[in-house]
Amino acid sequence: MKNIVILTGSGISAESGLKTFRSEDGLWLNYKVEDVCTVEAFEKNPAFVHSFYNELRPIMMKALPNMGHQAITMLQQELPEININVVTQNVDLLHEKADNKNIYHIHGRIDECICMNCGHVLKTLEDVKSDEICPRCKAMGMLKPNIVFFGEMPQYMDEVDNMLAECDMFIAIGTSGVVYPAAGFVRLAKFHGAKTYLFNLEPCNNSLAFDKEILGKASETFPKFAEQLINEIHKA
Ligand code: APR
Repeated sequence: MKNIVILTGSGISAESGLKTFRSEDGLWLNYKVEDVCTVEAFEKNPAFVHSFYNELRPIMMKALPNMGHQAITMLQQELPEININVVTQNVDLLHEKADNKNIYHIHGRIDECICMNCGHVLKTLEDVKSDEICPRCKAMGMLKPNIVFFGEMPQYMDEVDNMLAECDMFIAIGTSGVVYPAAGFVRLAKFHGAKTYLFNLEPCNNSLAFDKEILGKASETFPKFAEQLINEIHKA
């Protein structure tokens, strides 16, 4: 085995106290996607969109990783000969805080903004107002959260395509399999011969695409799997 791709969704961060999107009390039950996570929403009311992310940012920045994130670090440290990439739909930084390596935020990150005028990406840990000035091109009111809105192209898609074409094992953790292109990654990996595993609290939209579905809390199910995988590979 040479390559493992791990796709994570908001479910891996649930036990760190962060809301998911579609479970009960999920973010999308209290906010309309079209009001806070589309280009049109941002054009129509940038101040409201910024306020949504300004509210989310300190909560996410305070959160701590859980055993699910830490099990990824254990895999990467115990299996250095295997290329283990972490493709996350999450904009929180729990993979970084757990010291995971090779992290690809395909839906962006909560601690950055991007200038829609010049493309400059800057760290933003404090509240962002809608009339901020870009430090590079000095344009005013052009800073948007570096979050991939619905209708925008996810980031790192070329890198992800290459990973899936080479991957021997594809693991999805805490994602409902509702949003594409991420929900289609499992089929691409399978097409290229990967073994596919889903770790989720409940069966999800694309469950049937996985060879194995392990239901339960990711902080319990995934560390157990990771330990078994390490033992198997060390013994081989
Ligand atoms: N352990 C494992 N899975 C869990 C846990 C847990 N402790 N808690 C919740 N889950 C599962 C839920 O059962 C659900 O299937 O995590 C999944 C989260 O699904 P969503 O809320 O739809 O979140 P996600 O799949 O990350 O959404 C994908 O949609 O709105 C966009 O950009 C947003 O990145 C997000 C994308």
